[in-house]
Amino acid sequence: MSRLSIFPETVSSDGRGPSPQRLVCTDDPEQIGTELFRRGIGFERWPAEKNLDQNADQASILWAYRDEIERVQRASGYATVDAIRMTPDHPERECLRRKFLDEHTHAEDEVRFFVEGQALFCLHIGSEVLLIRCERGDLISVPAGTRHWFDMGSAPQFCALRWFNNSEGWVAKFTGSDISRSFPGLD
Ligand SMILES: [Fe+2]
Repeated sequence: MSRLSIFPETVSSDGRGPSPQRLVCTDDPEQIGTELFRRGIGFERWPAEKNLDQNADQASILWAYRDEIERVQRASGYATVDAIRMTPDHPERECLRRKFLDEHTHAEDEVRFFVEGQALFCLHIGSEVLLIRCERGDLISVPAGTRHWFDMGSAPQFCALRWFNNSEGWVAKFTGSDISRSFPGLD
């Protein structure tokens, strides 16, 4: 189930976790969408009912979701789309997890449609940190320049479509902050 938790960005006095004062916690997709919309983040629930073969390659995943891909392309005009699929035994899971776990920004929007599994998006907006557990069927759109990090967990299991406006794909600018260490991850 998708879940949104919002915390103040300040950590507890022992420095080991977020302040206990959680501002919002909800599993209701409508409320999640409303809270995120107020902060400039797009969030929608779309059907994601295609059963992908365990060995489905990139092209067949994109083909299965061609209607959804076209819908996003039509609305926003992103130049390219790919699919990232992670499994608990993926040989690069630890390396990839670390890569996305430090706070960073992008020069373009980060748009993801989860078609399998779950992962945690963490957004640092103003003086708040928003933890969004995204699940199959969640479409999230994070505007360019938003500070954020992403946790796929120690046994990742998800497949997400990713839209890009540049031919290089995922390019990040790290903020140098260690704030992500102070908040719970997906596990
Ligand atoms: Fe990112």
